[in-house]
Amino acid sequence: MTHSARDSWGSRAGFVLAAAGSAVGLGNLWKFPYITWNNDGGAFVVVYLLAVVFIGLPLMMSEILVGRSTQLSPVPAFAKLGGRLWSGVGWLGVASGAVIQSYYMVIAGWSLSSFVQCLGWTFKGYSLPPDGAFDAFLSNGPLQIGLTLIFTLLTAFIVYRGIGGGIENATKVLMPALLIILLYLVFTTLTMEGRNQALAEIFIPDFSELGKEGFLEAMGQAFFSLSLGLGAMVAYGSYMGKKESIFKSALWVVVLDTVVALLCCIAMFTIIFSVPGLENRVSGSTIGMLFITLPELFYTEMPGGFLLGPLFFVLVAFAALTSTISLGEVTTSLLIDRKGWSRVRATLVTTSVVFVGSILAALSLGANGLLSSFTVFEGKAGVLSTLDHLAANWMLPTGGFLITLFVGWKLGRKFCLEELGLEKPNPAFTVWLWIVRIVAPAAVLILLINVFMGKDFS
Ligand code: PHE
Repeated sequence: MTHSARDSWGSRAGFVLAAAGSAVGLGNLWKFPYITWNNDGGAFVVVYLLAVVFIGLPLMMSEILVGRSTQLSPVPAFAKLGGRLWSGVGWLGVASGAVIQSYYMVIAGWSLSSFVQCLGWTFKGYSLPPDGAFDAFLSNGPLQIGLTLIFTLLTAFIVYRGIGGGIENATKVLMPALLIILLYLVFTTLTMEGRNQALAEIFIPDFSELGKEGFLEAMGQAFFSLSLGLGAMVAYGSYMGKKESIFKSALWVVVLDTVVALLCCIAMFTIIFSVPGLENRVSGSTIGMLFITLPELFYTEMPGGFLLGPLFFVLVAFAALTSTISLGEVTTSLLIDRKGWSRVRATLVTTSVVFVGSILAALSLGANGLLSSFTVFEGKAGVLSTLDHLAANWMLPTGGFLITLFVGWKLGRKFCLEELGLEKPNPAFTVWLWIVRIVAPAAVLILLINVFMGKDFS
């Protein structure tokens, strides 16, 4: 591969926006609120925030550092700095990326159908969907596959066009738009009566409610939401200029991602606690929380909601797209950098392989009995939930564990100092280094071992 063939970001805002585009996605809008709900909030949110600060931020800096110093995609980047053995970290990341992409496309497809549904409501008037409507939607196999296919093709098209081909420009407009609508959403929900109950549920911790599986999910969610542990930030960091501050860029991404997740959670919980009957409707399929709760708000409470409803789901689709692009980039850039394939060929091959997984995931929501009931992890029935649990809670943390060890011990102090643009260590650097060397990997390892051995913390 030649470096001159690589695009690079136009500015620091370019990197931050694209990386935030990768981070902010269905993980924030769809997954965080519903798993926070399933884990009874409070304590779960505290563990999540600790994981973001003590594992997420230092790991994000580590990944960017590896990418920027090599200007390569993950597998060759780890191979170059660490030799063949370490390139395994890159391969694990590619596998995680492919697994996540396969089921992520299915959920992303739901944003398209919600958009169409909202258009209908906007023009023909809102009517409360009957109980069980969402489950019926989930078990419609051909519809699920069709929506997934549309999303897959959209992603493939953009990955094929490459980093410079519009991702950056689109993100610059659409990310702030998403943030503004979210703020308006939260602002409106704060006038609703369920507000206090929602805030208490999210922010008042009760550790007796959180089992070890909850700890694992909170940590896994931090990896998933920040796009860490699979080398996505290595890939994006490889397009970053040498003059940018890795710390500041990473901090921006982490803060934006966390704020968006919390805002979504506040909005959705408040709606659930305010609208009579909604709690029942949601609890049957919490997985559909995003798509069930918000239309209530748009069409019954919110001034201008009939316009914002469809627009919001376009933005959800867009947020998902900027994430699927980064997942696609991990797998595609491997084939380009390693095999010297053209972008078209690499994109076609990765897209087709991933789509096979997507079909299985799409049929596992009720359409096919076997695929829907198949259970590996307790309480996670079906292909989609299994893949999600496997990737977010096991593969990404394992990848993150190895990456922190790699950067902390194998690359070591001198290398990191230079790459971070420091002449000599300052206190912040020393703290970071020891978190990367000891704190982050130990935290991940202890948790994984405990869950694996079936030990409870209490
Ligand atoms: N962070 C993305 C989200 O929150 C998902 C993702 C995970 C994207 C891993 C890339 C890599 O939706």
